[in-house]
Amino acid sequence: MNQIELFCPATIANVSCGFDVLGLALDSVGDRMVIRKTAEKGVRITKIVGQTLPLDTHKNVAGVAALALLSKTDSAFGFEIEIYKNIKPGSGIGSSAASSAGAVFGINELLGRPFSNHDLIAFAMEGERLASGVAHADNVAPALLGGVTLVRSTAPLDVLKIHTPSELYATVIHPQIEVKTSDAREILRSAVPLKTAIQQWGNVGGLISGLYTEDYDLIGRSLEDHIVEPIRSILIPAYNAVKETSLKSGALGAGISGSGPSIFALSKGMEVAEKVGDSIKKVYDKVGIDYDVHVSKINTEGMKIL
Ligand code: HSE
Repeated sequence: MNQIELFCPATIANVSCGFDVLGLALDSVGDRMVIRKTAEKGVRITKIVGQTLPLDTHKNVAGVAALALLSKTDSAFGFEIEIYKNIKPGSGIGSSAASSAGAVFGINELLGRPFSNHDLIAFAMEGERLASGVAHADNVAPALLGGVTLVRSTAPLDVLKIHTPSELYATVIHPQIEVKTSDAREILRSAVPLKTAIQQWGNVGGLISGLYTEDYDLIGRSLEDHIVEPIRSILIPAYNAVKETSLKSGALGAGISGSGPSIFALSKGMEVAEKVGDSIKKVYDKVGIDYDVHVSKINTEGMKIL
């Protein structure tokens, strides 16, 4: 195989209570990427369509992640990468993760799979380090493994794929403003009171249990964030109104997608997820900021070879 074409999924990181540890992959939103073997060694980004992003390999998240992988191989050839961006950088649905994870997944396939998808997470995290200053794994893990993922530890890397209930759907609104992950991290407090931490880990445990037992009510009760949401939500226009209308329309819960500005809601079944989307549109039509709304099943495969 000399060339591979991929669907690289958008992802929702944090999933309310799981800051930096939980994430999930979407099925109907993502980038496309074409990766080709070349006789010339190294990595070249030859084309980026849809967004203005650096072609310089060392300044592009896909390039940096690819180089991290190649530094652990003795590949006799190199790679060129074309990226067709549908996910806007700074949207909160894992734009940099889709590119970083896509690059390492595609190159690994073209090399005959020397690494497991779990191994690839560490290389893709180098792209996240370039994008946000921190090598967090909660977007690249679901992009590579699919479904809902839990980053139990990053050193050593220990990522678990969590069971995804079959009727779980996400609704995502992406207001067309940019929130840089690095800025959204800067405003967070570095210490958490014990009382708040107790509430948070109670919810993380509840959410994991709810996912495994397909207990949708428990999933909904656990979609609470006492640590990050109170601080970051002020960056997102009409955040409380979107959350309120989502819950009124039947969503199990709602929260900030990654570092925002996107907001997500989880629902049981597509019909409810679409109703939630319609109610969010009504709220945002009054805000005066352009937006996209996506309704998607949870993607349990991760990267898809096209
Ligand atoms: N966990 C990261 C954050 C995800 O919230 O900063 C960024 O997409």
